[in-house]
Amino acid sequence: MILKLTKIGNPLLRRKIADVPKGRMGKKTLLSFIKDMVLTMRRAQGVGLAANQVGQNRRVFVMECHGSKRYPQVASFPLRAYVNARIVEYSKEKERGWEGCLSIPGYRGLVPRSRRVTLEAQTPGGLKIRKTFRGFEARVVQHEVDHLNGFFYMDRMGGLKDWTHLEEFNRHFKARIRDNK
Ligand code: NI
Repeated sequence: MILKLTKIGNPLLRRKIADVPKGRMGKKTLLSFIKDMVLTMRRAQGVGLAANQVGQNRRVFVMECHGSKRYPQVASFPLRAYVNARIVEYSKEKERGWEGCLSIPGYRGLVPRSRRVTLEAQTPGGLKIRKTFRGFEARVVQHEVDHLNGFFYMDRMGGLKDWTHLEEFNRHFKARIRDNK
């Protein structure tokens, strides 16, 4: 089932999202919700989706990138789904990169993010994991965990001068990224 995306302005997108209780881990309702999140992310051509972006107060996010149309120049990574995720380490070194958001359609922003982050989370089945991410994948992890803490990428930008409409991004910045300028 494709879920309805919430947009910026929805109060749930500014809330710190609640953990999924132990008793729900691995249960059918949680697993089928995660499946719907994956379908919704794929339909919208996103590379990540947090549960409050589909109106749910459950600490869950999914991510996947295989030749994304929205992000054609970035490295692929496999489908991942995390429950009760927290970033426990941010590298000091940062790099700036372009981000969009399914809850803010039609815009892109240039956002500084840590090059490397370590995540502690549970799998949908309830196994505890700790994993380190790098590069674009680390960027997506930071973007999605930010959603679950009530933040948007604009909150992380250096300033609003780094914010562009998608049409202007395509006109002025996309080719520069492709040619590595
Ligand atoms: Ni987003």
